[in-house]
Amino acid sequence: MPTLSVIKADVGGYVGHADVHPDLMVRAAESLDKAKADGLLIDCQVQHVGDDIALVMTHEQGEDAEPIHKLAWDTFLAVTKVARELKMYGAGQDLLSDAFSGNIKGMGPGSAEVEFEERTSEPVIIFLADKTEPGAWNLPLYKIFCDPFNTAGLVIDPKMHAGFEVEVHDVMENKRVVFSCPEELYDLLVFIGAQTRYVIKRVRQKDSGVTAAVTSTDRLNLIAGRYVGKDDPVLIVRCQSGLPAVGEVLEPWANPHLVFGWMRGSHSGPLMPCPMDNATPARFDGPPRVVGMGYQIANGRLIGPRDMLGDISFDRAREKALETTDYMRSMGPFEPHRLPPEDMEYTTLPLVTERLEGRFEDLPG
Ligand code: 13P
Ligand code: 13P
Ligand code: MG
Ligand code: MG
Repeated sequence: MPTLSVIKADVGGYVGHADVHPDLMVRAAESLDKAKADGLLIDCQVQHVGDDIALVMTHEQGEDAEPIHKLAWDTFLAVTKVARELKMYGAGQDLLSDAFSGNIKGMGPGSAEVEFEERTSEPVIIFLADKTEPGAWNLPLYKIFCDPFNTAGLVIDPKMHAGFEVEVHDVMENKRVVFSCPEELYDLLVFIGAQTRYVIKRVRQKDSGVTAAVTSTDRLNLIAGRYVGKDDPVLIVRCQSGLPAVGEVLEPWANPHLVFGWMRGSHSGPLMPCPMDNATPARFDGPPRVVGMGYQIANGRLIGPRDMLGDISFDRAREKALETTDYMRSMGPFEPHRLPPEDMEYTTLPLVTERLEGRFEDLPG
């Protein structure tokens, strides 16, 4: 059974936090190509969104396999060396440890992995986002797997009619809960509407138990205990034949929802769907961006990517995102464009407020 692993990290931005320098992409590809030649990987690609490199790998090692995680870690270390030579911005930013500990989780990079029985045809979309956080996937995942106004198959496909199980992680308390939908939709929404803390990790088809979607839930700043960069997330969605159709998986991106993580990890803004060759945040280091890479997986081979969100049918979503950008930016340092205080705790703001603590005096009475 093949496993698809997508592991991402920011190991140096070009320029600032905008993009990845081509030399870094080349170094990463060399490392993965060697692992493919050695037989560890079936197939591999190096992709990026903004300043984040995504290693897309297929293999037979299963999820959470040490050799795969070590390969990703060693690859990011090798790329960091190039980033340091070129003095890329924040070289090694997401690598929070010096020594590999057996699993890349908790070490900075984000990972999403799914082991699956390859079907007669296996269409998969990998979404990569920059300048946001893992909870950014909550709303689109809800629409794809729980909302019949988005996903016609929930109503008219007998294989989807029973619904899906949604696994939610509490990233603050390190706990998980599974909701059976549609029966528990309202319970699910209690939590996933608070996307900074409650993050959808996995969606399973209810009847078969097969994984339909999986996300990276790694929260860089919670791991580091300080502001490092944003935990720019990845999402894998399997499509068709009893799972949502490709078009149903793309439909949520027609409305750019507001996400946290823009500029200094401290602002909210619209998540703008982008063509893959235009995935480079610019204005105010943004707005936050998402790309959709479509693949047909054939015996573990990655046939693709097709640029799914580059299509003309998302032009109006881009327009709307840019209009929303003008509107949100007009608020400057005021909430809700600036994040609420709980979320600012994980930025550099506490260093400023500490300096002003002595200025406060008690009010009389
Ligand atoms: P620095 O300029 O201090 O890195 O902070 C701004 C920034 O880009 C945050 O990641
Ligand atoms: P990244 O997390 O993408 O490095 O962005 C950092 C940032 O704060 C940009 O303003
Ligand atoms: Mg960066
Ligand atoms: Mg980034």
